[in-house]
Amino acid sequence: MNKIVSILDSMEYGPAPEDDAVVRAWMARHKARFGHFIAGAFTRPGKANSFAAVNPATGETLAEVAEGGEKDVDAAVEAATKAFKSWSALSGTARARHLYALARQVQKHARFLAVLETLDNGKPIRETRDIDVPLVARHFYHHAGWAELRDQEFPDHAPVGVCGQIIPWNFPLLMLAWKVAPALAAGCTVVLKSAEHTPLSALAFAEICREAGLPAGVFNLVNGGGATGAALAAHDGLAKLAFTGSTEVGRVLRRQSAGTRKKLSLELGGKSPFIVFDNADLDAAIEGVVDAIWFNQGEVCCAGSRAIVQEGVAEKFHARLKARMETLRVGAPLDKSTDIGAVVAPVQIEQIRARVEAGLREGAVLHQPSWADEHFVRATKGGCFFPPSLFTDVSPASPLVQEEIFGPVLVSMTFRTPGEAVALANNSRYGLAASIWSQNLDTAFDAARKVKAGVVWINSTNMFDAAVGFGGYKESGFGREGGREGMFEYLLPAWQKRARALPESPPLAAPVPVDDEAGPGAAPAGLDRTVKLYVGGKQARPDSGYSYPVLDGRGRLITEAGHGNRKDIRNAVEAARKAEAWSAMTGHARAQVLYFLAENLELRAAEFAARIARMTGVAAKKAAAEVEASVARLIHYAARADKYDGRVRAPQPRMLALALPEPYEVIGISCPDEAPLLAFVSLVAPAIAMGNRVVVTPSQHHPLAACDLYQVLDTSDVPGGVVNIVTGDRDQLASVMAKHNDIAACWYVGSAEGSAMVEAESAGNLKATWVNDGKARDWFDAGQGQGEEFLFHATRIKSIWTPFGV
Ligand code: NAI
Ligand code: MG
Repeated sequence: MNKIVSILDSMEYGPAPEDDAVVRAWMARHKARFGHFIAGAFTRPGKANSFAAVNPATGETLAEVAEGGEKDVDAAVEAATKAFKSWSALSGTARARHLYALARQVQKHARFLAVLETLDNGKPIRETRDIDVPLVARHFYHHAGWAELRDQEFPDHAPVGVCGQIIPWNFPLLMLAWKVAPALAAGCTVVLKSAEHTPLSALAFAEICREAGLPAGVFNLVNGGGATGAALAAHDGLAKLAFTGSTEVGRVLRRQSAGTRKKLSLELGGKSPFIVFDNADLDAAIEGVVDAIWFNQGEVCCAGSRAIVQEGVAEKFHARLKARMETLRVGAPLDKSTDIGAVVAPVQIEQIRARVEAGLREGAVLHQPSWADEHFVRATKGGCFFPPSLFTDVSPASPLVQEEIFGPVLVSMTFRTPGEAVALANNSRYGLAASIWSQNLDTAFDAARKVKAGVVWINSTNMFDAAVGFGGYKESGFGREGGREGMFEYLLPAWQKRARALPESPPLAAPVPVDDEAGPGAAPAGLDRTVKLYVGGKQARPDSGYSYPVLDGRGRLITEAGHGNRKDIRNAVEAARKAEAWSAMTGHARAQVLYFLAENLELRAAEFAARIARMTGVAAKKAAAEVEASVARLIHYAARADKYDGRVRAPQPRMLALALPEPYEVIGISCPDEAPLLAFVSLVAPAIAMGNRVVVTPSQHHPLAACDLYQVLDTSDVPGGVVNIVTGDRDQLASVMAKHNDIAACWYVGSAEGSAMVEAESAGNLKATWVNDGKARDWFDAGQGQGEEFLFHATRIKSIWTPFGV
């Protein structure tokens, strides 16, 4: 038969392979052996300690790559440390020029980089060419801008220092760009550890740095696997650690870096919901699923891997989805008409298979395209290919629904009401992304606000841009990459580099039983009765039945305060959880409460000042100044309450992305002894101004100023449960808060040991932490005691993408 006629007959695709000659020539130039890139030069690849870079589509070894050990990591950190001095001293414009040069150079080598990435990772050339590499260039351009603007946009900030960055294999070059670009823009230098399955594009980038004239030591690359990553993460020459990868390793790094003063950002796993309402454009949603779970073979941290479909359209939706699955093409990644390429490595295929088999054993129903038969298995032998897969009849608690599969496997559930959809969506330890499909804006935005996730795509999915922050809620990690919010990960308020150590807070005196029954009259002459805790808007006896003595400036007993324990914190968290109406209020409404608080505190200024003077022994004038400053601080955050409200970005022609600062909901706060009223107010006011509810341990030695606030809180219309105060041993209570699963963030101001403890113990649910590492802060100073730093830590950015006119 005539060939053309036969093609028209079957409408089969012909082969359309991308040429890989340029990449082959590049590898030949390097004799297919690579060292590390340290201080502007490649190290000589030794014979020992190397690993193979493999093409997962064929099993072919592409190159041998040196595996870094401690010595290599040391050398790289040393190079980065040396380079930091001059790099951070460059003008913003000079650094911007370097970033711009990198962007240009990436564009110049775009096709080469796309082919190289496809060979090493297995992802389709269509994706590396049209998505990964253009986004890499975009990241460097965007951050050239932040380099230029750093001093205007982030006044009084300094680069954190040398950064260790560890990236995964699913978007090797893009993850490099997400990490390296903001670091260099801020004025930091970098040691990057690429992923063991995909070392090559980072090596090509190292070469680009050399070509582009980036000063030696600004970007350093060490190749290797988990052990190399662990050596880098543990290096004490780092000021910052940025990690993208599994939640498991993220948790290890959280524990290990605790107390090291390394700033940490974690971008971890996900099991992101893909919600389809019955009024969605179903055809668009079906194409959305293709992008959500079959983009990059489903090896995407934010993959829409949990479809949640409204009952009325579920049957239709699944039927159309199955029909669409028939037309997906799995095969040679370099073929321009391939939709799904190879999974990164045999170990990943094994993991996907194991999870799928476990799902089958549980009784879930698996659907794969009819072509995924023995013929497919034979034809793809030798490569890591897995067909697109759909599971239905799954139970919400099943591992299929709860665990990240990190492959082309979708699970699908149904719901009846919007409330049920949100509940199912949030029934996950993860909170990275969500995709919401509805033609009704009201429905879509309502769900977008209620879903606990760092990125929400309305009627779209898997959209990325350098200007739009990306990062998680819950166990998907903390910190953002991209946008203004991402720059903060690489900056510090400049004064913090010079901060002195906080004086030690001596241990509390031994607790004594509360003699509450005897009533106030029974207290020794001149003593107040035991001060209670404040939980859910009511005074509460400490569960322990113990109190501890509160002494005055000269060591004489003033009164006793409740010795709070684990149970008291639990009660306080429960009260805080119930006070969710506070988070849903407008900034305006919260501002009014804060103004009222300020007013009522001011009315009792003399009394508070006397209390502070007596407790701490400071002069009356200083005590009066502390009350005055506390009133001013409340007014400051009343002013801010309705103004720290996010940004709008237009990353694409028919797309807006809203960067909304959302409260953490429940924050645990541990206050220092210094400035017992002002520090308390300086921490609590920004947290509640942003809509959080708080559980606070006031100054352990001088708790009375906070306890005197109970009545002020009552008379100022602060709803019960918004501010809960548990007096007692700061570090004991901080430990309970750090471990509590219903607290999403912990702020701690105290000792270096206490800071380390909070960081380590927060690893359970990976809460965001903000600790002082034992350093002092001048609470009276407006630059240190208030401002954007506080609001930034009081919120997490949710990026909501919403298309229009499409
Ligand atoms: P991984 O978390 O082990 O690897 C990510 C990076 O961390 C790699 O560069 C690796 O070498 C490094 N690393 C591993 N152990 C380390 C340690 N102890 N200290 C410092 N660095 C370390 O992820 P892996 O093993 O590649 O994949 C396992 C699973 O993790 C996947 O099946 C997937 O579920 C998930 N994953 C999630 C990613 C995400 O972006 N959310 C990315 C990669 C994997
Ligand atoms: Mg590979």
